[in-house]
Amino acid sequence: MSDSEPGDSDEMAETAERAAELRRLIEHHASAYYQLDAPEIPDADYDALLAELRDIEASHPSLRSESSPSEKVGAPPLALFAEVRHDPPMMSLDNVFDMEEMAGWMEKMARVVPEVSGAPLVCEPKIDGLAVSLVYRDGLLVQAATRGNGRVGEDVTANVMTIGAVPHRLAWPSSLGPVPALLEVRGEVYMPVPDFEEMNRRQMEASERTFANPRNAAAGSLRQKDPAVTATRPLSYWAYQLALIEGYPMPETHSGCLELLGSCGLPVNPRTRVVVGIGEVMSVCAEWQAGRHDLDYEIDGAVVKVDDLGLQERLGATSHAPRWAIALKFPPEERSTRLVDIQVSIGRTGRATPFAVLQPVVVGGSTVSMATLHNEDQVRLKDVRPGDMVVVRKAGDVIPEVLRPVLSERPAGLPAWRFPRRCPSCGGPLVRLPGEADTFCTNIDCPAQRVQRVVHFASRAGMDIEGFGEKRVGQLVDLGLVRDPGDLYGIPTGDLAGVERLGDLSAQNLEAALQASKSRPLDRLLVGLGIRHLGPAASRSLALSLRSLDAIAASDESTLAGIDGIGPVIAASVRGFFDSEANQAVIAKLRSAGVLAAAPPAGPLQASPVPSTAGPSTAGPAQTLAGRSVVVTGTLEGYSRAEAEEAIIARGGKCPGSVSKRTWAVVVGTDPGASKLKKADELGIPVVPGARFEDLLSSGELPVGG
Ligand code: IVH
Repeated sequence: MSDSEPGDSDEMAETAERAAELRRLIEHHASAYYQLDAPEIPDADYDALLAELRDIEASHPSLRSESSPSEKVGAPPLALFAEVRHDPPMMSLDNVFDMEEMAGWMEKMARVVPEVSGAPLVCEPKIDGLAVSLVYRDGLLVQAATRGNGRVGEDVTANVMTIGAVPHRLAWPSSLGPVPALLEVRGEVYMPVPDFEEMNRRQMEASERTFANPRNAAAGSLRQKDPAVTATRPLSYWAYQLALIEGYPMPETHSGCLELLGSCGLPVNPRTRVVVGIGEVMSVCAEWQAGRHDLDYEIDGAVVKVDDLGLQERLGATSHAPRWAIALKFPPEERSTRLVDIQVSIGRTGRATPFAVLQPVVVGGSTVSMATLHNEDQVRLKDVRPGDMVVVRKAGDVIPEVLRPVLSERPAGLPAWRFPRRCPSCGGPLVRLPGEADTFCTNIDCPAQRVQRVVHFASRAGMDIEGFGEKRVGQLVDLGLVRDPGDLYGIPTGDLAGVERLGDLSAQNLEAALQASKSRPLDRLLVGLGIRHLGPAASRSLALSLRSLDAIAASDESTLAGIDGIGPVIAASVRGFFDSEANQAVIAKLRSAGVLAAAPPAGPLQASPVPSTAGPSTAGPAQTLAGRSVVVTGTLEGYSRAEAEEAIIARGGKCPGSVSKRTWAVVVGTDPGASKLKKADELGIPVVPGARFEDLLSSGELPVGG
């Protein structure tokens, strides 16, 4: 529709207003991103604002303006650094978001310059850092500059000189003749992800500013007034364009340029590939997208460039981007959305976990409408409030996370969230003991706890009974058909079929699943019963050693504690479990239903091995950690906390709750405690990744090299 059509002046006024609003927002966020290195919203949200403005300007020519942010690249430089003019200008890239758009770009190029069809293309990872140009005169680095607004950037020479990956002198091969008088290379300064995480941890401990992501950390570290500060920051560089060369002929292809840069000692990304046709582009991009988290630097897409520089020249550029290159942006892993509410869920032990109810948002390849907030302190620390716009992150298989509020969009007077005082399920009090992070519903009859206990019993790690997820079990508990795992096998068939929205066929499937589960081995039953501290590793030890539920139930604490992998904490918990009349009733029901609970076959431990270097289990494992103090922090796969601690103790080690100078090693699982890590760092205590825990147990030696 043309904007000069009569009769739509209201709509036109609205569109003009929206365009003005978008320009304001874009300018605000561009300054936060480019000048302050402190973006408030995710890149994907910024891109969406820019795309909306470009759409409006494309369909309403009268609303176009040369001063529109849609015409600019980046932001003008800060006064902190001297200005550097870029000639040729440092351009941006146009984006595509899927392969259809990629094919569209290729067709468009072929319409302008037909020889492009079938011509080689270079695929490069799109590094998420900041563009920096390097100028070498007679082989010596004389100037480094940020992109700034594309025409004028900031002189960051002294800071770039501190980056180890950037050569001060080109390693120009003498076989190529004299070193060129002038060589300008452009590329990306970035911070490797592990270094970023480590640096942010240190910054937080020192109460210094932390960065939202590796890209901002790279930008913030490079744009320091004092190069000595930059020198302490783990920055690196990938070269991706030979912009100028004098005194040596410009190669004819982009891949030739990259090869030349590589042979001068400049770091060129080894994943770069020369391909032909959309099919190959597609497979390279798909491979990189799937493996993006396997790299130790962040990439947010792939860049595809026409290889032949002659064709590049004929294709030319628009006002802000070359026509011969395109960026495929991967689906964003961070988006902002409205935090509708914070609610609390009750687990099988009664733990009350706050979680975010979000306006659904597509992020990291799926729609996210909920995310855990872990505990009361986490909500306070993040300062997220119902009604806030919040940044949500979902990366790969990792569970979605609420990162932070967008403070600039917080409605005035929005109250902070308060942890509820009553359980949302049973109405009983919620209790948080002093010094504890978690809050609990202490009512053992709480329906939510009942549901979760049964769901845990039927879960994969437990009895693996398909069809008994939270929703179905919730229905059964609500109907009064199930109160504990023992009831599952006693539901009359007719009653199952009567459960809402459950047809005959599903009822039969549930029956079959229940029937099949009766032959699960003893260790799975033990896990399913949810005995405190008893995880898969110790369950297996117990089952292998005592071989029947009766024998376990009849064993006293000291017998239990003598078993490999079981120490006093687990032994007391197991004893307490079997002493409870309520639990005895559950077991009686399981028994009369025909649950066999046979001992698992001996042999190599599979699911969660507890390495045993000694022969019979009564002799106990080899004392590999004799006299050593090993602290565990975070969750270790296949081990409950108590199991991990007792596995250490069984090998002669000690397992105190805090790190001191007597600590020999700290084993770090997922979600480790910051204070333990900090202490280990301060005292220089070796840190062992959770994945190497079993090596540590069996060898008693600190693993070398991560
Ligand atoms: S080529 C004229 N190649 O992405 C061509 N850029 O969104 C200029 N980037 O400003 C860019 N990896 O900061 C190119 N392999 C790569 C890149 C890359 C990251 C950045 C660069 C650029 C931005 C455009």
